[in-house]
Amino acid sequence: MEVKDKIIVALDVDSLDKAKPLVESLAPHVGCFKVGLELLTAVGAPQVVEFVHSLGGQVFLDGKFKDIPNTVAGASKAVAKMGVKMFNIHCLGGSAMMKAAKHAVEEVCGNEKCPVILGVTLLTSLDHKDLVEMGIYDELNIADPEEKKQIEQDRIERFAVRHLAWLAQECGLDGVIASPKEIEAIRNYCQPELLVVTPGVRPLWAAAGDQKRIMTPAEAIKAGATALVIGRPITKPPVEIGTPVDAAKKIAEEIASVL
Ligand code: C5P
Repeated sequence: MEVKDKIIVALDVDSLDKAKPLVESLAPHVGCFKVGLELLTAVGAPQVVEFVHSLGGQVFLDGKFKDIPNTVAGASKAVAKMGVKMFNIHCLGGSAMMKAAKHAVEEVCGNEKCPVILGVTLLTSLDHKDLVEMGIYDELNIADPEEKKQIEQDRIERFAVRHLAWLAQECGLDGVIASPKEIEAIRNYCQPELLVVTPGVRPLWAAAGDQKRIMTPAEAIKAGATALVIGRPITKPPVEIGTPVDAAKKIAEEIASVL
């Protein structure tokens, strides 16, 4: 894997016009472009994928599939036929759904290279309160707030990381999406071959924006990340850094320095 393949650019725009200059300039310098629900819904998955391919880029289709196994198998087949580099599904869809996605992709690709399937463990927007609300855990009856916070954090990690990441691996998925702070636990608990793709990455020279639990590219790679999803630091770099290509090159240098 080349250093540039470790950089996945989040294409968080709502039209192909806005995506065009980014894909055109960045395609030779990054591994692929993550297209999410916004662009997929506004434009249509086949159109977006064809567009990125036509400009020499590759696609991480961030569609986060979660439905009954038969439906997710159908969607996974369609994605595999588009020739994307990777796509993702929710681990919370269950083991039958994850296995169905894997099987569907293998059926389409045969001996050819299959797209990488990544599992979304627990959305990082969910906290312990949400898990209680959903009936996954009971409310903790602990008076000491610090102790309570610690146990809540442990429970999330156990559920999101140890349990769901391990389940994804057992179902044959190639990897998981994880917050930078979860990488170490995944590396300790799962097989070394499991790919770990992480957002929430910020070089020291970029604004954190709305990201809270962040790591620098070097820290995330050192912690064991396989590839990094990076949006605004590349698509809207600070003026002193220069163009998106300058930003991507600077990040590649930072990654290379710790490999
Ligand atoms: O601009 P920024 O680098 O924050 O973009 C990060 C990308 O990764 C966005 O597309 C965001 O939706 C996605 N993401 C994230 N945190 C997660 C899951 C996905 O930032 N836990």
